[in-house]
Amino acid sequence: MGTGNEAGSGRFLNTNSREFARSTKMCLQSGAGRRRLLRSRSNLAIESATIMAHIVTSKCVGCKFTDCVEVCPVACFYELDNQLVIHPEDCIDCTACVAECPVEAIYAEADVPGEFQANIEFNATEGRRIKDSGQEAIVKKKDPLPTAEARKTELGY
Ligand code: SF4
Ligand code: F3S
Repeated sequence: MGTGNEAGSGRFLNTNSREFARSTKMCLQSGAGRRRLLRSRSNLAIESATIMAHIVTSKCVGCKFTDCVEVCPVACFYELDNQLVIHPEDCIDCTACVAECPVEAIYAEADVPGEFQANIEFNATEGRRIKDSGQEAIVKKKDPLPTAEARKTELGY
């Protein structure tokens, strides 16, 4: 079994994102699992482990193409009526979802543009709320919202 460092070094990066996601799943097991382990050790450890996550910005609102969900190796996308969010602790920052979104709605937390900064807290709050309510993560692509193509054009894609 490999480690996160091996995946991060590029050992598994010379392929497409779906294959990368599968490789990541095999190599990293679950970031949530690793984080639960750390959480059980100390709250301080979980704070340092959860340095960042990936964020679905409001560019997703009105689109919900859902291409992103099928490549996520740890099933951390949750669905609202008009957009998706990423659970902040479950995301392992593998980056596989970023290239899948037709409107480039997903950013690493550190790279979120200024205009979308509020979306960081929104993802965290809503991701936790939805998961804690018992709703399953979305893992299968579904039809986008009826407004998706118009919204995509509006966003310049
Ligand atoms: Fe899932 Fe994207 Fe986070 Fe990877 S970066 S774990 S694909 S949400
Ligand atoms: Fe939204 Fe893009 Fe995923 S529009 S549902 S973040 S593919």
